[in-house]
Amino acid sequence: MQVGIFNDESKIGEIGAEIIAPVFIDKPTGVLGLATGSSPLPLYDALVKKVEAGTLSFAQAQAFCLDEYVGLSMEHPEAYRNFIRRVFTARTDFPDSAVHAPAGASDDPYAAAAEYDAQIKAAGGVDVQILGIGSDGHIGFNEPSGSLSSRTHVDFLTEQTRQDNARFFDGNLADVPTACITQGLGTIMEAGKLVLIATGAGKAEAVAQMVEGPVSARWPATVVQFHNDITVLLDEGAASKLT
Ligand code: F6R
Repeated sequence: MQVGIFNDESKIGEIGAEIIAPVFIDKPTGVLGLATGSSPLPLYDALVKKVEAGTLSFAQAQAFCLDEYVGLSMEHPEAYRNFIRRVFTARTDFPDSAVHAPAGASDDPYAAAAEYDAQIKAAGGVDVQILGIGSDGHIGFNEPSGSLSSRTHVDFLTEQTRQDNARFFDGNLADVPTACITQGLGTIMEAGKLVLIATGAGKAEAVAQMVEGPVSARWPATVVQFHNDITVLLDEGAASKLT
């Protein structure tokens, strides 16, 4: 695991983009895995700059979001498919039809989860997966106590995660969905390369467990210790509990 600690979020974004861009320069038809939330925003800005500068193109690429809320309408601005369009893909040359998210508004989210896993496989798998980490140690929305080898599945958000995400719903906890469809840890671990970003002291415990703790379902992100190509980009707050 490569761990980099920086004092500036835009530097984190630039370094992440330097890792990701060559993959799509070598393989323009590559598959990019996208995380939503705040952590990857500087990275998305840095990738957008490269596309604008003409040094990177996603015109032939595909993207798969990590997860999606269950029960939000497809028009809801916080549905992850809409969020990711707004903050990233619509600012690039990614064709909109090549940007996929689990069908969280489906009548049968369990079937939608299995279909999504099959869709990722049919696309040839994810070449680079961008990840954030929850303060409770989730990646994707794989909350504590789940299987470390799960496939894309329906999961239930912990109270901690719902509180953390209430900021996207004008602070109204009651509006934060209780369930989601998430790529499983087994699905995520099949990506060729992982780039994980964490910022702020609120992530420090989860980051310390992920990097230095024992692998355990209590801290799902610890499973990435078994990945042979992962870069973790941190600010000083998120790194503050590393020994
Ligand atoms: C989002 C996702 C989550 C977030 C995590 C951190 O698609 O998969 O694992 O990465 O909840 O969220 P932020 O970056 O908002 O702190």
